[in-house]
Amino acid sequence: MVCNLSSLVFVFLLFATTSYAIPVGEVNTICKQAKDPSFCSTLLNSNPNANLVGLTQYTIDIVRANVTNTIKLIDTLIAQSTDPKSKKHYKLCLGNFGSEGALGDLDYTQELLKKGDYQGVNLAASSIVDNIEDCVSGDAPSIPPFHDPSKLPKYTTITKSVVSVILVLSKNLGKKI
Ligand SMILES: *[C@@H]1O[C@H](CO)[C@@H](O)[C@H](O)[C@H]1NC(C)=O
Repeated sequence: MVCNLSSLVFVFLLFATTSYAIPVGEVNTICKQAKDPSFCSTLLNSNPNANLVGLTQYTIDIVRANVTNTIKLIDTLIAQSTDPKSKKHYKLCLGNFGSEGALGDLDYTQELLKKGDYQGVNLAASSIVDNIEDCVSGDAPSIPPFHDPSKLPKYTTITKSVVSVILVLSKNLGKKI
């Protein structure tokens, strides 16, 4: 009897703690709005017990890891560059990713999520994308983009994909207020 009661309590607690989690079906519906739906679903389904705010927080944390890794890579690339053209490109990218760029925008995104300003989250996350694109395309649109043989283009592409998941999540968060 005691055993049955405790398993009942367990089932109840399990239900109570997961009832706010959004179902896989809803994750997939939200991810259909993303540029890369399967990337989005894989990312979000790796954290199955979260609600929308929790998923947004989770995605922000991943972007932070991505941006931090990217900054480390850029630091190495600057140190290793021998020709001025590539050094200049990587220095510009460091600005685009640093606290005056993507990292600063990310802190702001985090702050707005805590405040529950979901439209603000969407706007701040868009600025992260803009900063990443500035790194890829360079400052002067008339000059052809720097041909980058390093791992940086791969890093920027994945970081942009993760940020685009914040964009769709925040749009859906906005609907619920
Ligand atoms: C960015 O995060 C994703 C998801 O955790 C990971 O697969 C990828 O390797 C990360 N990339 C970088 C450059 O940190």
